Amino acid sequence: MSKYFYITTPIYYPSAKPHMGHAYSSIVADFFARFKVIDGYDVHFLTGTDEHGLKIQRSAEKADKDPQQFCDEISKTFKNLSNTLNLSNTDFIRTTEERHKKTVQYLWDQLEKNDDIYLSKYSGWYSVSDEAFYNDDEIEEVDGKKFSISSKSPVEWIEEESYFFRLSKWEKPLLEFYKSNPNFILPESRRNEVISFVQNGLKDLSISRKTFSWGIPVPNNNKHIIYVWLDALTNYLSALNYPDLNDNLYKKFWPASIHLIGKDILRFHAIYWPAFLLAAKIDLPKRVYGHGWILSGEEKMSKSKGNILDPIEIINEYGLDPLRYYLIKEVSFGNDGNISQERLEDCINSDLANNYGNLCQRVTAFAHKNCDGVIPRDINFQKEDLFILNKYKDNLDKIRKNIDEQNINFYIDYIVNSLFEVNKYFNDQEPWKKKDDVIRLNTIIYTSLEIIRKISYLLYPIIPNSSLKALKIFNLSDKDIKLDSIKNNEFLSKGGKIEKINILFKKIEKNND
Ligand code: ME8
Ligand code: MG
Repeated sequence: MSKYFYITTPIYYPSAKPHMGHAYSSIVADFFARFKVIDGYDVHFLTGTDEHGLKIQRSAEKADKDPQQFCDEISKTFKNLSNTLNLSNTDFIRTTEERHKKTVQYLWDQLEKNDDIYLSKYSGWYSVSDEAFYNDDEIEEVDGKKFSISSKSPVEWIEEESYFFRLSKWEKPLLEFYKSNPNFILPESRRNEVISFVQNGLKDLSISRKTFSWGIPVPNNNKHIIYVWLDALTNYLSALNYPDLNDNLYKKFWPASIHLIGKDILRFHAIYWPAFLLAAKIDLPKRVYGHGWILSGEEKMSKSKGNILDPIEIINEYGLDPLRYYLIKEVSFGNDGNISQERLEDCINSDLANNYGNLCQRVTAFAHKNCDGVIPRDINFQKEDLFILNKYKDNLDKIRKNIDEQNINFYIDYIVNSLFEVNKYFNDQEPWKKKDDVIRLNTIIYTSLEIIRKISYLLYPIIPNSSLKALKIFNLSDKDIKLDSIKNNEFLSKGGKIEKINILFKKIEKNND
């Protein structure tokens, strides 16, 4: 029986080039996607760009460019970043693509057919930066100007004819859905926020605008442009060729396993999106996970605040895998996190260079000297060997369960502890003193090599390139990485060649001034 896993990142606004916050969401999504691939799932991993709406239209005007040309250029920098980050995404969607427009208009028709849309007049606050409507009590005044309290972005008053979605009608069904699917919104604190927002009452939602043109027209009334969030959210379905119900992608991958997003866009994913889907009689995604923010000082890193860190610069200086490892380890998943170059350098030196890289070098160099560079044949596991080996077998289901709850912190702690433990094992066993006891010597080497294999498998979703470099020791490639085989303590073929590898991570010289 095949197992399917569909994970999505937000589709980012190509209003400016990507920054570390975008890199963060994408890297974390890639981590989950790769974990599921090595765990035997058929994985669909979607990312892309959200290209319509007033925000993009105004950005293009500012740059004195035609909006399509503007989007083409910046969307490309997002696509390039996906490659630079070594994402394993299976698709990259742009909302200006025909396949997407078609699906959005179809969904609109469904909502209209089910009497969830009516024409009226909107008046209220709107943030172009967030492409969001805000209630009066969500607005504050600073120096005579109005801002959204939650995002701090400026709002403007709009009054115009607009189509509305009957969001209020879905208040009770949504609350019932959250109740019977308690893990639909994670982490738990986010779920509580959403539930209390819905309990306070939902107003119908304006879902079209008449005062600008950059977007998908409402079917049968092209004076109106479809609200960019209704347009954008639909990407998760258009990428599966919905409404072609016989399409294999849709059949295999809907409902999505998880929409991974930042907490800034929780309301759209946890309230509007499920309401649209309920109204259109489409199954709801299984999970929406709203992770925290990468901060710059005390503030959210964002292009509108101009406090961004360029992931490309960091990668050029330190390499990709150190950045991936650092973001996954140091930002406690679900919470906000500050990042600093100093902590990144500590991570490289202690975890990557010393604990992992050096272990690989040390064990293989020792094996070359003491068993002719081949994986030892005659071995006899003792209690202390089995103690460390069996932990992987015994913990595999626990690891899987934690991953299914997006508990990245558990996963990374498990790896850090395992590295510590195997280094200690190698030191304590003192194989260099066992040269007269060949079987014991062989067994320590074999055990250490097996652990390097197991840890490299577990590290693959985090630092795929470095893990594959390490696995070259055994001539293993990505096709060989099957998570289930970390249960096997004698996977490495005895007598097989042990390849020499180059240093995995260079230590960073730190000056202490
Ligand atoms: O909201 N820390 O696009 P966007 C962590 N187009 N993650 C961050 C971050 C930070 N400082 N800054 C951004 C949009 N992100 C819409 C989405 S989806 C149907 C439409 C990440 O370009 C995080 O995932 O503003 C956040 O939710 C997303 O980028 C917002 O990207
Ligand atoms: Mg944003």
